[in-house]
Amino acid sequence: MKIALGSDHGGYLLKTEIKAHLESKGYEIEDFGCCTPEAVDYPDIGQAVGEAVAAGKFEKGILCCGTGIGISISANKVPGVRAALCGDCFSAKASREHNDANILALGERVIGVGLAKMIVDIWLENEFLGGRHGCRVDKIKAIEDKFSK
Ligand code: RB5
Repeated sequence: MKIALGSDHGGYLLKTEIKAHLESKGYEIEDFGCCTPEAVDYPDIGQAVGEAVAAGKFEKGILCCGTGIGISISANKVPGVRAALCGDCFSAKASREHNDANILALGERVIGVGLAKMIVDIWLENEFLGGRHGCRVDKIKAIEDKFSK
């Protein structure tokens, strides 16, 4: 599975940890930055990863910022992105099974590295259940269509 990674400076250290974790498990990673702890603007990274995932170049994306909030809001502006900010394992599983989230967002200043890695693993290992959840995700797409005109 090809995974797009990205962070601003607030999520840089967590992204570095997650990158090493995923590479050790054999995932193919592309890092969309940032590449140093220097300050950058999270919307730029959220948009870049969001566009890459929405275009189908990557099956999934993982984004980190200080809280995970700004970068997930930014990615969610890209049509086709369903970015889920998760700080617990239950939400990580549900975001795949119910929402078909294609991007996971994490907050470096909110959760520890151990929990973040567990959330990442659960998120990557669980599949969308479809059925009634599929109808609801279709309604999300309908909202996008309405406002993209
Ligand atoms: C950067 O200081 C911080 O605002 C950013 O990483 C993030 O938390 C925004 O939502």
